[in-house]
Parts: sequence; structure tokens; C-alpha cells
Amino acid sequence: MAKEFKRYLVTSALPYANGPVHIGHLAGVYIPSDIYTRYLRLKGCDVISVCGSDEHGVPITIKARKEGVSPQAIVDRYHALIKRSFERLGMSFDIYSRTSSETHAKTASEFFRKLYDDGKFIEKTSEQYYDTEADTFLADRYIVGTCPKCGNERAYGDQCEACGSTLSPDELINPHSAVSGSVPVKKKTTHWYLPLDQYEGFLREWILEGHKEWKTNVYGQCKSWLDGGLQPRAVSRDLDWGIPVPVEGAEGKVLYVWFDAPIGYISATKDLTPDWEKYWKSEDTKLVHFIGKDNIVFHCIVFPSMLKAHGGYILPENVPSNEFLNLEGDKISTSRNWAVWLHEYLDEFPGKEDVLRYVLCANAPETKDNDFTWKDFQSRNNSELVAVLGNFVNRALVLTQKYFDGVVPACGDLTDYDRETIREMSEVKARLEDNIEHYHFREALKDAMNFSRIGNKYLADTEPWKVWKTDPKRVETILNIALQITANTAIAIEPFMPFSAEKILRMLQLENFGWERMGATDLVEDGHRIGKPELLFEKIEDDVIQKQLDKLAATKAANQAAEAAQNIEPQKESVSFDDFQKMDIRVSTILEAEKVAKTKKLLKLTIDTGIDKRVIVSGIAEHFTPEELVGRQVLVLVNLEPRMLRGIESKGMILMAEDASGKLRLLQPDDKVTCGAQVG
Ligand code: MF3
Ligand code: ZN
Repeated sequence: MAKEFKRYLVTSALPYANGPVHIGHLAGVYIPSDIYTRYLRLKGCDVISVCGSDEHGVPITIKARKEGVSPQAIVDRYHALIKRSFERLGMSFDIYSRTSSETHAKTASEFFRKLYDDGKFIEKTSEQYYDTEADTFLADRYIVGTCPKCGNERAYGDQCEACGSTLSPDELINPHSAVSGSVPVKKKTTHWYLPLDQYEGFLREWILEGHKEWKTNVYGQCKSWLDGGLQPRAVSRDLDWGIPVPVEGAEGKVLYVWFDAPIGYISATKDLTPDWEKYWKSEDTKLVHFIGKDNIVFHCIVFPSMLKAHGGYILPENVPSNEFLNLEGDKISTSRNWAVWLHEYLDEFPGKEDVLRYVLCANAPETKDNDFTWKDFQSRNNSELVAVLGNFVNRALVLTQKYFDGVVPACGDLTDYDRETIREMSEVKARLEDNIEHYHFREALKDAMNFSRIGNKYLADTEPWKVWKTDPKRVETILNIALQITANTAIAIEPFMPFSAEKILRMLQLENFGWERMGATDLVEDGHRIGKPELLFEKIEDDVIQKQLDKLAATKAANQAAEAAQNIEPQKESVSFDDFQKMDIRVSTILEAEKVAKTKKLLKLTIDTGIDKRVIVSGIAEHFTPEELVGRQVLVLVNLEPRMLRGIESKGMILMAEDASGKLRLLQPDDKVTCGAQVG
């Protein structure tokens, strides 16, 4: 039997205040959490939803240093931007707080202090990397080097973003400081560790035995952490940005960001209500953490161990986490600006908040990574929101205006088909609830959309515009039912598309009904006058989509240029003028080109060097087609020793430019020259 809860506490991962929020965050965490919360609220449950900015941690101080401003200036900027963008998108947090708040500093310090006083930490002195130039310890992202697992040269001291491995600074090959670039030395430092190994038994029983219902990706990650054996984890850092470690003699040390941030959920609740303990300390509360998949270990292993060590707090009942959303086939990346930023979307698509909410939910990476494409965005808008939902609502309202002057007609005798339609609605309601309660939001959204599908089908089958001529009484019933379906649609879509739900209710001139009345056929009373019909959604044209695609293409080009500029090969050793003079380079024309059979890369080129006509085999078939080469003038090193390639003698080499991405370009005179002209 599922446990009954009296109230709900919903948390959403606190976004780092070092950059704006993008569609990946929304699809993974915030849209699902808002759907869930809105649903519970509509049902009349006692529910609060808390979130806020995560304002500590090294990425923030790195950004501040880069811009030459204080960390506080960075978090102030992004906290304001994120908070405002969330509001504009209709996120309905009861509080959006921040971890630089006083309440939080106090809450997190007290939490640490209790664990400290209760002897729950291990104190350990170890040698850690220290930057003597910048005079600072190098925690987490302050140290960079080569990943031992995949060879990525820009891995961080806590993680490699290329292969996703969790790392410790000592594992990095060729470590150097991200602050000064210098090679660090080792220096002794003392820190506090939470001995996670001591919580293994508790975690195994609580998760592996007790929460088999968690999503497989979450459960699986927990299992593999537990099977791999847990280690003590440092909960403090040598940094000057963060909450000071509340222990005598711990100057210059702060709480590790992943220690303080989840406590931010508690601080936010305190800021929201003096009754906060009721949400955090009563077994009657259902605590649900919405998070991204890179946060699983912290929310399922570390934070619960902290809560357990502290005592008195409840543990999460579920930790729904999605996979990642990609953008047009590539991984979303803040540093590469490969993202659709929420605040930009809101500026560029005013009034289309629900379209984004809809698309991100319909396409959410619930069980596997998924791709956001602008074409899909357009087609979901045009063929689902406009053609199904908008179309139905509009027809029901317009027909009521047309035949009954906007006054809701009475419902007469029901036909079997009417009854079946009504029954279908209540079936959809049950599925919809079940799906939301099990965090299957994509399916739930389909159910919500089904109300308008049912409505469209009902109008198409009953054809009131034809019946009107012969049986206007029957049309009264048809439109009464169509309006009931419309009102039901408004309830069903509210958690997903609150702006559109509100608009439907406004057009119907009705107040919000709450969830429980969904499925009812007396939501709109006869004699009630409805308002003026407006379009719920509008078609998105190709040029709007093209503009977004162009924007992304420009980003891609800028990234490639930046990357190429970074990877310039160092200059080779010097050569004497005589050595250079030995090379005989001539302007030549390509006369014929053909692929060398059974090879991928080789082209056989017949060229006119001015000296002779000869054959050169060149490994450029993946870069050029034979057709585009014939007739081109190129530069050829003609006195390179002949070589046999695939049984063909190749006499010389065509000169080409190759950039860091491996892209090849032919070199040619800026005007036609006679073949044989010397280059030098
Ligand atoms: N800032 C983290 C991230 O964006 C999430 C922190 S969640 C919290 O990945 F629980 F620690 F607050
Ligand atoms: Zn790696």
C-alpha cells in the first residue's frame, strides 16, 4: 500500500548563479517540478515548492576573477536574471531564495556545527595543490590538467566534462593552476570529511531495498555508487568565497558548496514560513527533489547521509531526475554558448511562454537523452497547439457566439455518443493523474491534450454547423457539451500551460475550478455569457525558425574560429635558406581527377606542371570531389621523391592549408599563371 501523506515539499535543484538558465535546465528539472506542484495545488493539497540560486562554489569565483568583479556582483546579476526569467515563464515557486542570504549562512553553519559537535566528521590533514604565485590553495575547478580516463587536456580537479568522470585533483596528469597557469606545489591543509562509508548500510537499505520504485536511471546510479564503495568526502575547502567553517582555527576555510547548497532547500523553507519544521521534520510530509542527472549522487547519497547524521529530518520520498537535453544534435554547453537561453527566448517570443513549456515537456529527456530542434518546436506549435488545442477551443467558442450570441445553451437529452464522449473524459482524467503522480510528464501531457482531441472529434462527428439547419435544439446540446469539454481542457492543461489555461477561462468568463471537478459536465452553466473568442496560439512561420537557426550557426562558426585560433601549431625549427631553395614548387593545373578504387581517402590526379604531365596520388578524397578539382590551379612540390601508393607512382605533393579542425583548403595563385611558374 502506498503511504498516505498529509503535505508535500517539492524542491528544484538550485541553479548556479554564474550564468543564465537554458532549455536543458528547464526540460530536466524546472518544467517537471512546476507541473507536479501546480497539479498538487490545483488538487488542493498542502504543498510548497522551494528553489533559489546556488551562489557559492568555484565556477562563480572563476567568473568573477575573469571579469575583474567581486563574486557578489556575479551572483547578484545572475540571481536577478534567473529569478525574473523563471517568473516570466510562469514557474510557480512559493519562494525563490538564494544561498548568500543570512538565513542560509546561519542554517548551514548550525547544521555543520551540530555534525561537528556530535563527532560526525573526520578531521584529516593532507597535502593539496597550492599555487605559490597566486598564494592560494587550488580546490576543484581551480586546478586543471589531463583526464586520466579520456585524455581531455582541460579536465577539472573535480570532474572531466568530456567523459563525465568524477575526479580528484590528484588524479590529473600535468596539473596546473587555473588561476595563474603555474605548476602547483603540494602543501599541508586540514579539512573535515563526512565518512560516507559509515552510511553505506543505511543507504543500501533505504534506497536499494526501500525505493525500488525510483526511476531506473536514478536507482541504477545509486546502486553503482554503493557497489563501488563509498569514501569519506571533504565538506570544507580552502577558499575565500563561501560560508566560513564555524570552527575555531578554521580561518580561510569555507563549507564545500555541495555541503551548503542542499541545505539551501531548508533555508528557503525557513524564509517562506515560520512553520517550516512541519515540512522538514514530519513523517507526514512527502519530500520530492527534482534534479538533473549530474546531481543524483549529491541528492541520493550525500545529502541524505547529512540529514541522517544530523537527525530529525525526513528523507526524500523520490528524486525524479531526467537525462540530458541536446540542442540540434550537440550537447548544450554554457561555455560554448550552445544553448537556447530562457531570458532570450522570452524576449524573442513574447506571449509564447506556454509554447516553450509545451515543447520541453512533450520532448523531455525522461528516459534517454533527447534533442531539441527548432523544426520540432515549430511543428509541435503548428500541428499540435494551433491545430488541435487552439482549433478546438476556438471552434467551441466561435460557434457559441454565432448560434447563441455567446450565451451558453442548455443541455438537452444525451445521445449514446454524447455519453461515450463524457465517459472518455473521465477516463483520461484518471490516466492523467496517474501519470503525473508517477512523474511521467510526457504521457501526462498527451492525456491533457486528449481533452481537446476528444473535443475536436466530437465536433467533427456531430457537425453542429449542418445540424443547425434541421435541428437547432440538438445543436444546443452539442455546444453545451463542447463548452464543458473546453472548461475541462482548461483544468487539464493548467499544470503544463498555465497562461493558456487562464486565457481559456477568461474567454469563458469563468473562475478557476480546481482539479477535482475535472470530468464534470456542469462546469459551464446554461444562460452564462461567455467572452470574446481570441486565438489561443498562432502559427510560427519559417522565417522565425530560420532566424534561430542562423543564430546557432553563427555561434558554431564563432566557436570553430576560436578553437582553431587556440590550437595553432607552434613554429617549427628554423631551416637554412639553402634548404628552402632545394624545394621546387610550381604552379600546376589539375587535368583529371578520379577516386582510387577501394580507398576512402585517395584521389588520383593528373596534373600539368609545365614541366610535364604526371600523376600525383593525394589523400584528399574526403575533402574534395573529383569534379570540383578538375581545372583548378594549385601549388605542387614537384621534386618530392616519388612514392608508390596503392600500386600507383605518385610524383610530387599538392600544397594545402590545414586548420586545427582538419579542414583542408587548396592554395592557388590569385590570378591565372602559366603552368610551371616557380614559387619561392
Ligand atoms: N547548482 C547545482 C547545479 O546546478 C545544483 C545544486 S542543487 C542543491 O548543478 F541541492 F545543491 F542545491
Ligand atoms: Zn575525461
